[in-house]
Amino acid sequence: MKQLSNRHILLGISGGIAAYKSAELVRRLKDHGADVRVVMTAAAMEFITPLTLQALSGNPVHTTLLDPEAEAGMGHIELARWADLILVAPASADLMARLANGRGDDLLTTLCLATPAPVALAPAMNQGMWRDPATQANIEILRERGIALFGPAAGEQACGDVGPGRMLEAEQLAELAAGLFQSRALDGVKLCITAGPTREAIDPVRYISNHSSGKMGYALAEAAADAGAQVTLISGPTQLPCPERVTRIDVISAQQMYDASLEKMGNCDIFIACAAVADYRPANVEEQKIKKHNDAMRIELVRNPDIVSAVASHPKRPFTVGFAAETQDVVSYARDKLQRKKLDLIVANDVSDSRIGFNTDDNRVTVIGADTEQHIEQMSKRQLARQLIALIAQQHREPAD
Ligand code: CTP
Repeated sequence: MKQLSNRHILLGISGGIAAYKSAELVRRLKDHGADVRVVMTAAAMEFITPLTLQALSGNPVHTTLLDPEAEAGMGHIELARWADLILVAPASADLMARLANGRGDDLLTTLCLATPAPVALAPAMNQGMWRDPATQANIEILRERGIALFGPAAGEQACGDVGPGRMLEAEQLAELAAGLFQSRALDGVKLCITAGPTREAIDPVRYISNHSSGKMGYALAEAAADAGAQVTLISGPTQLPCPERVTRIDVISAQQMYDASLEKMGNCDIFIACAAVADYRPANVEEQKIKKHNDAMRIELVRNPDIVSAVASHPKRPFTVGFAAETQDVVSYARDKLQRKKLDLIVANDVSDSRIGFNTDDNRVTVIGADTEQHIEQMSKRQLARQLIALIAQQHREPAD
């Protein structure tokens, strides 16, 4: 199993002799399944060339903040959002001082400020610089802000000194990066997720459906598996590959999704209804393809069962989470759905905003429970999924909070 499969890692390289190890680090991160993009400071380019890192990462290397050409490709804010983790290796004393001061005077420090993703630093410097009270004070500030520090190790240094300040080896850094994604918040928990659209057949070749891509549900399945849950994904038709360590049950219609959900719910602790289930289906499915004999035609529709309501109303109900896609009065409609469907939590999003929601990569939501209301700002569905899973795990453990 690849521990960093599908992870977007932005590798920042600052100026230091340990930059030669960054080339190997790109290889190790990719071996673990990560998609790697490299950002180099001007000083880093004195030690290793962007061309080497471009060849190893398979992606263009980013070096300047205000380069119109680079901004036209993947701009710095886009890059900051793309990252699931920013790993700076080597992190020089100067880079850490600039980060501790909140500076954004080059591309790498700007990305560290702008990103919603975690930031990890692998310090590398002479032992005297590491021990200096100014560096130690900066490290304290960075730690307090939640920045992870990988190393440094102690030992013989490039300058001939012996002491702390050696950058960890590439494989150790890749393992530590992978460890950051394993929250274990759902260890031993069984979780079911519905995802994607449903298709309601009209005849053998036609159906009624919707624009759901399944991205949010699949991202939740991946995040839940990363948090240690045993995940069953009940999925309508999508183009997406099944995330690793997730068991997928493929369904087409709402009725099939209902049957699979009711069968699986008895053996699950948390049920997340993320699917865009068709509310109605044709009353009769024609056995043969309908011919266009008339200028107009009518299709009679009947209501589909409400899957999440049936799960939440069951005597042995799991902790149940629904989604509410709304175009107006988002929070009040979602609160109403929370009560009507007897849910523990509802995740509301505004689908009138074309930048988020259906068939997009980003989302922005409000999570509502009986006593909670939390807004999560716009970010990629994969990053959002991780925040949602952390929140759901916490509410599942302590529902009264
Ligand atoms: N849902 C479901 N089964 C259905 C319809 C919806 O499980 N037949 C779930 C969705 O997966 C979602 C939640 O119910 O978690 C809300 O879906 P939505 O379509 O917004 O709710 P509706 O009750 O259909 O409300 P509306 O009146 O807005 O259509």
